[in-house]
Amino acid sequence: MTESAMTSRGRAEDDGGDLVAAGSSRDTRGEPDAARGDLVFPDGFIWGAATAAYQIEGAVAEDGRGASIWDVFSHTPGKVASGHTGDIACDHYHRYADDVRLMAGLGLTAYRFSVAWPRIVPDGSGPVNPAGLDFYDRLVDELLGHGITPYPTLYHWDLPQTLEDRGGWAARDTAYRFAEYALAVHRRLGDRVRCWITLNEPWVAAFLGYATGEHAPGRRDVPAAFRAVHHLLLGHGLAASALRSAGAAQLALTLSLSPVIEARPGSGEAAARVDALANRQFLDPALRGRYPEEVLKIMAGHGGLGHIRDGDLETIHQPLDLLGVNYYSPTYVSAAEGEPANPAFPGSEGIRFERPDRPVTAMGWPIDADGLRTLLLRLSRDYPEVGLIITENGAAFDDRADGDRVHDPERIAYLDGHLRAVHDAIMAGADLRGYFVWSLLDNFEWAYGYHKRFGIVYVDYTTMRRIPKESALWYRDVVRRNGLRNGE
Ligand code: FCB
Repeated sequence: MTESAMTSRGRAEDDGGDLVAAGSSRDTRGEPDAARGDLVFPDGFIWGAATAAYQIEGAVAEDGRGASIWDVFSHTPGKVASGHTGDIACDHYHRYADDVRLMAGLGLTAYRFSVAWPRIVPDGSGPVNPAGLDFYDRLVDELLGHGITPYPTLYHWDLPQTLEDRGGWAARDTAYRFAEYALAVHRRLGDRVRCWITLNEPWVAAFLGYATGEHAPGRRDVPAAFRAVHHLLLGHGLAASALRSAGAAQLALTLSLSPVIEARPGSGEAAARVDALANRQFLDPALRGRYPEEVLKIMAGHGGLGHIRDGDLETIHQPLDLLGVNYYSPTYVSAAEGEPANPAFPGSEGIRFERPDRPVTAMGWPIDADGLRTLLLRLSRDYPEVGLIITENGAAFDDRADGDRVHDPERIAYLDGHLRAVHDAIMAGADLRGYFVWSLLDNFEWAYGYHKRFGIVYVDYTTMRRIPKESALWYRDVVRRNGLRNGE
């Protein structure tokens, strides 16, 4: 970080250093004890936190970065709450070294971040920008220097705007440009990064970006959304195959996955259809080399299947080491004749999306830890060949800073409940390797701007000061013990 960046934006606090000191004195009374009923995780379990480039970096015009669809979208009036943008975000681009120190203080063993495509290939295709790679080069070195394993995601929704201007993910060419960009990142970081996550949540990128228009690029064109699904998956396959040939040790794909629950008896078909649209539309091509029949039927009625070419599904179906699971809530549905399709789920005519009567987070998302256990067991039953890793799980609440403290008992309860569900699934045989909490920092929550706080670390957006919330300190103890205490 440059001195001027530090002084102009307010100096980062020293909490990271204090946490390191606290973390290094082992509290043996804290050692997990399975006999006492403590929940002990497997040796080597990966404990991390996750973020994404546009949500935290800021510095959108620095060092040759091009514009992304999220720059253009967030600067379009009416698209993001309060007109918030990622222009400054958490200023992580300048404060990354302090943020890594903070992670080290929490004892994290891994960090999932995303690489901003428009920093690396500002025009989406053509020349690579070395200054953009330099940032991730420094970040990776900083992480490794603190014993933290980097887990980069290559696409977390910030498509270069020039590619959107040429059709975005609805255009086949974007998949090839993605694979080229992925290789450019691998060429620079491949000597130090072992595990590569290609995409984050293609369902969200395709359907919220191209069908409902709630996310960038803000299009409302259902056939384009289905083409986007296919080209995102094709981009994943092309990139995975290119990275594997280039020597990548581990490859992963991160999906938003949600168990679909029948809210009323007799809704089995409704639940199966939504499961096909939300989950199997991505799981089956990537892990089985085929689209579910229900999805093909729906796609055929929304623009046809002409975009699926011979050989594409073989390309998409690459051997994967890990499936990244992002879990927030189940989806509750019931059969309801005459109900129009939910715009986010084209093909869901006759299905009502229900709001169960249970506690919700500040996003209005139902809290249901058991859904995570069900999901993990289902994945390990249906796709036993791939290892699982939770690449996102967490919750937004209306946190307030009180001096140096942020009291967030709801988040601790949420994380505790979900980690217990994770532990249950492991005990029942799920091959689950690690857990990344969403998120390390409060950040730009897409269409909600800075109104939703998901961090275990609070960010004061006027001073950029970071304050570890009580949940961060709780998580630090979980990581240190590699488990949860009985009855805490
Ligand atoms: C996921 C996104 C992530 C964040 C969380 C709350 O869908 O991958 O960037 O917004 O939701």
